[in-house]
Amino acid sequence: MKSEMYSTHAEQYDLAVQDNLYNAHFERPNLQAMLDNLTGKNVLDLGCGSGVYAQFLLDSGAAEVTCIDASQAMIDIVSRKFSDRVTAYAQDLSQGVPQEASDSKDVIICPLMLHYIEDLTSLFNDAYRVLKSGGYMVFSTHHPFSDFDYSTSGDYFQRESVIDLWNTVGEPVEVHFFRRSLAELLGAVTQSGMLISHVSEGIVGEKIKMLSPETYQSMRRQPPFIFVKCQKM
Ligand SMILES: C[S@@+](CC[C@H](N)C(=O)[O-])C[C@H]1O[C@@H](n2cnc3c(N)ncnc32)[C@H](O)[C@@H]1O
Repeated sequence: MKSEMYSTHAEQYDLAVQDNLYNAHFERPNLQAMLDNLTGKNVLDLGCGSGVYAQFLLDSGAAEVTCIDASQAMIDIVSRKFSDRVTAYAQDLSQGVPQEASDSKDVIICPLMLHYIEDLTSLFNDAYRVLKSGGYMVFSTHHPFSDFDYSTSGDYFQRESVIDLWNTVGEPVEVHFFRRSLAELLGAVTQSGMLISHVSEGIVGEKIKMLSPETYQSMRRQPPFIFVKCQKM
């Protein structure tokens, strides 16, 4: 699902996520805490955005980093920042990753992208295919319980296309995404053959309390994201 947030506003998005509450101080520390030592690893970053994770992966000693995103504007930013230190290309991930070789990656990360994909089956089947045996995937996505606030059907188990206005880039921008049940999300993982080894609803750090006591209280009552680690055995 294409969004103006990630095409027209790609440069502003890149600036915003460097040091904001939800991405920099909540999502990234929690997802990164689920990764093992990345030294020498071959890593695939799905929905890479403007490359904040690519920087982290390179700094962590990853041997090869491949970044994929639907937005050419995001890929242009990644290519500008990292040149040939990463491989980056545009591709709609709802079709999986057909350009990636089977059994080629040690680690796949997929931060905050899955809620833009209606049917997760192809993506998880392909994640399983490209992971080496013993490799793993870590993803974060909107928490199904929090997203139920957006439901217009009132039926938690019905997948729904949702529209919200976000102020991430300093002005309200319409964002379209899908909300789905926890069982649908986790079922997409397990049907691929991967085993779920760790689920987290995130720790809300003291930095958030300092920067915004209201957001801290709200995140502690209602987790905005869920974090999942799954393994190819
Ligand atoms: C919330 S941003 C997260 C970016 C990055 N992972 C991060 O944490 O900074 C979501 C990203 O998913 C990308 N995206 C949305 N739908 C996609 C799709 N169908 N295929 C590939 N990427 C998609 C957007 O272009 C955007 O860059």
